[in-house]
Amino acid sequence: MEAQLNRSIKEVIKDFPPVEKILDEYGIGCGPCAVGLCLLKDIVSIHNLPADQEQEMMGRISQVIHPGQKVQIPRVERKPEARPKELRYSPPMKKLVDEHVLIKKWLALIPEILPRLDLESEEGRQLIRDGVDFIRSYADGFHHAKEEDILFKFFDENLDMVKVMREDHKTARNHVIAIVEGLEGKDRQTVVHHLSAYRDLLSQHIKREDEIMLPWMDNQLSVSQVGEMFSKFLEVEERMDSYQKKYEDLISRIERKYRKKEE
Ligand SMILES: [Fe+2]
Ligand SMILES: [Fe+2]
Repeated sequence: MEAQLNRSIKEVIKDFPPVEKILDEYGIGCGPCAVGLCLLKDIVSIHNLPADQEQEMMGRISQVIHPGQKVQIPRVERKPEARPKELRYSPPMKKLVDEHVLIKKWLALIPEILPRLDLESEEGRQLIRDGVDFIRSYADGFHHAKEEDILFKFFDENLDMVKVMREDHKTARNHVIAIVEGLEGKDRQTVVHHLSAYRDLLSQHIKREDEIMLPWMDNQLSVSQVGEMFSKFLEVEERMDSYQKKYEDLISRIERKYRKKEE
C-alpha cells in the first residue's frame, strides 16, 4: 500500500478503476483532471479529509488494491491546524477567487451563445471577438499572470500542482488560438468546438483552484509571504487599473443582450 501512495493517481486509477469512484464519493474528483500528475498521497493530504474519513477511504482503496488482505493503512502527514471543508482564504487568495467569479459568468454564457452563433453576421463575429478579448486580457493577461508570475513563484516549479495549473493555462491558450483561427475562417464548427472545450477545461480548473489548490497553498505560506503576495497583486492591479471595471462591464453587456433575446 505504501508503494501505491507514491504513484501518480492516474496510474493507480488505470490499474484499479474502482478507486476513481471511491475518491469521487469523498468529493475528490481526479477522474476528469486532464493531467493527473498528483500522487495518491498528495491527493489525500491536499484534500485534508477528517482523520476518520481518511482512514475509511484509504481502507476502501486498499481493499480494491489488495482484496481480502488486512493491510496496514499508513497515515498521510498533514498540517495539524488545517481544517477540512472550510474554505477560508487569505486576502490575496480571496482576490483570485473573486476574479474567478467574473470568469465563471463568462463560462456560464458560452452554452447560451453557441447554439445560435452566426459567424456570417458582424454581430456574431463581434461577440466572439469580445469573448476572446475577455479571455486574453482578463482571464489570461490579468488573472493567470498573477497566478503564474506571482503566486507560483512562492512554490517549487516542479511541484505537481504547479505543473498541472500551468498545463491547464497552456491548453486554454491553445484553445483560444484555435478559436481565433475559426473566427478568421468563419468556421463555426471550430469555434464551437474550442469554445466548448475551453469552458469545460476552465470550469474544472477554477473548481480545483477554489476548493483544493488555493486553500492548500494558503496553508503552506507564512504570514509575511502572504503580505508580499498581496502587495505584488496590488502592483498588478494599479498597472492594469481599468481592467476589472472594463471587463465587468463587457460581461454585463453580453448578459443583457442575451437575456433580452431570450424574452
Ligand atoms: Fe489558474
Ligand atoms: Fe485562477
